[in-house]
Amino acid sequence: MKIGDLKIETPIILAPMAGVTDYPFRILCKEMGAGIVYSEFVSADGIIRENSKTLGLIRFEESERPIGIQIFGSDPDVMSKASRFVFDSFRPDIIDINYGCPVPKVTKKGAGSAALQDLCLMDDITAAVVESVPEIPVTVKMRSGWSDNSIVIPEVGHRLENIGVKAVTLHPRTTKQRYTGKANWNYIRELKDSCSIPVIGNGDVCNTEDMMRMFEETGCDGVMVGRAAQGNPWFFKNAVAALNGENPPPPPSLYDIAMTCARHFDLLLENKGERTGSNMMRKHFSNYIKGFPGASNFRQRLVTAPDLDSMREALDMFIDASMTVEDQLAEV
Ligand SMILES: Cc1cc2nc3c(=O)[nH]c(=O)nc-3n(C[C@H](O)[C@H](O)[C@H](O)COP(=O)(O)O)c2cc1C
Repeated sequence: MKIGDLKIETPIILAPMAGVTDYPFRILCKEMGAGIVYSEFVSADGIIRENSKTLGLIRFEESERPIGIQIFGSDPDVMSKASRFVFDSFRPDIIDINYGCPVPKVTKKGAGSAALQDLCLMDDITAAVVESVPEIPVTVKMRSGWSDNSIVIPEVGHRLENIGVKAVTLHPRTTKQRYTGKANWNYIRELKDSCSIPVIGNGDVCNTEDMMRMFEETGCDGVMVGRAAQGNPWFFKNAVAALNGENPPPPPSLYDIAMTCARHFDLLLENKGERTGSNMMRKHFSNYIKGFPGASNFRQRLVTAPDLDSMREALDMFIDASMTVEDQLAEV
């Protein structure tokens, strides 16, 4: 797949997820084979105010490339200045515009998926961003419409293409649907048929079988994966094998899981500091540690550990136990 002039090795992409796809998690997914990683959404207002917390969300490592930074906002001028600032200060490979966020706090201000109710505003925002960063491709991530009565697919496809957008990701739920019901993949097919830029399908891909089915049923150029990768960066390893027609790699051992938790934890502490890093890791532990005997016990200890030292202690216990289990299995 090519996005503008950018060649993408593997068309399997890590979805932007607020509070999840910070650089520690993105690095792990990239190492497992994700073809592009996206930042969580970043406020254009915060960017032009040079708010340090906001700018912290944009930081990335060279090894993550190709990386897209996703921004949201409702004012074309602010979006234009913000994307220019991001390019000048950080040099990402892609700027992505968020037209998918359904959260009222965001849509009430006219940002995120609110643009699906006003396609002229969407045109203005998109054109402003495309013009401000001619050096790199601009992509868009969107939902299928505000509600079932106002679906904007396929109309937006050629509209965005004519403005100069280089790829569109579609999560085919409506804003009103939030995360309920099912993603309607038919809209991905309709969008694909309506424009010639790459279309990236997203929504309800839980495993590699779903991924292959999405490619087949919709003709999409790439598949973006969100929730299925949480606590499971190995998703991308499996996906690459499936795309190459190879047998699935062996599932991660308990020891692999424990060591990945430890690495993720270290990266988070380095990136976010002790307090925020350890709080964020609680959520990640509950995603990693499930589906094996004794998981709930270890999970409980890690998630409820009152401070950094006791969290480290619980993690060391988990690592020790994972080695013991591996030894026992090796003897069988
Ligand atoms: C915790 C969480 C945070 C999310 N944050 C964002 C975001 O910042 N930007 C965005 O475009 N979508 C965001 N999404 C939506 C995902 O990118 C994706 O479209 C959605 O989860 C459907 O894909 P999936 O079924 O593979 O999870 C978020 C989803 C989750 C679960």
